[in-house]
Amino acid sequence: MEINKIAVIGGGTMGNGITHIFAMKGFDVFLTEMNEDFYNKAIKTISSNLDRQLKKQIITEEEKSNVLNKIVKVIGVENVPSDVQLVIEAIYENKQAKLGIFKQLEKQINPNSIFASNTSSISITELSAVCRSDKFIGMHFMNPVPVMKLVEIIRGYSTSDETYQIIKNLTLKLDKEPVEVFDYPGFVSNRILMPMINEAIFTLMEGVASKEAIDSVMKLGMAHPMGPMTLADFIGLDVCLAIMDVLYTGYNDSKYRPCPLLKKMVAANKLGRKTGEGFYKY
Ligand code: CAA
Repeated sequence: MEINKIAVIGGGTMGNGITHIFAMKGFDVFLTEMNEDFYNKAIKTISSNLDRQLKKQIITEEEKSNVLNKIVKVIGVENVPSDVQLVIEAIYENKQAKLGIFKQLEKQINPNSIFASNTSSISITELSAVCRSDKFIGMHFMNPVPVMKLVEIIRGYSTSDETYQIIKNLTLKLDKEPVEVFDYPGFVSNRILMPMINEAIFTLMEGVASKEAIDSVMKLGMAHPMGPMTLADFIGLDVCLAIMDVLYTGYNDSKYRPCPLLKKMVAANKLGRKTGEGFYKY
């Protein structure tokens, strides 16, 4: 199956990055948002990220406008055209909300098309249960999408080999590196990354070191591009907590218990960069 028309559901941090890279490679992208305001915000972000590439002469003015012309506005999931060959869902991390979207899409999209979720930890098998489970797969992009090379490709229990091959080849067309993983809580990326961040938050809570010191240890000692406190702010503390909860309940293992300081900061709406304050102020 030739894929040239795709829909991206959700224009937040991940959805606008996914739209950006597909449009840059010449795909027609139906970017779907709940309302005009959210849609306009997503386009503004894509435009300013394209400006970074323009400034560095990675693209020209003409290429920038070609990319923006490849993006089509859709308001409301029920208005996604039925003939897209791939849908990538990239809304917030909430299982019920995602299930609702896939149930709706199942009714309206060509039955041969593939459904993918960019979920960072929710079970692909559980999401696929409400729709075409053999044509359902996880496509987990990393933030910032235009920069990070990895796409973690998650095979649900019923994902067919054909679906996997199509998505693997598509990922290579985007100049990204596909890595195949199977469907267990947190997959590989967040099963390893999130407990590290959670442990860093415990280290801060217990007064072992300051946030700056914790970041310096991991940046200078382990060559991480960002320390774990900065990275938690970058990802969003609500997302970090949601992923720890998936690990904790998915494995029934206390080693994944979310740090109380993480819970407290989420309750206080100190979610990191997106709210202007997390471990650091922005
Ligand atoms: N769009 C386009 N380009 C972007 C960009 C964006 N959103 N953000 C950064 N860039 C580009 C910059 O223009 C710059 O380009 P050049 O190399 O051509 O100069 C390059 O990326 C590096 O950016 P900066 O110079 O601004 O800053 P930096 O060197 O500090 O790098 C970073 C920024 C790439 C974000 C780096 O700090 C980094 O790799 N951080 C770790 C990111 C990470 O771990 N991501 C995974 C998070 S987990 C996740 O996403 C999954 C999940 O499920 C939670």
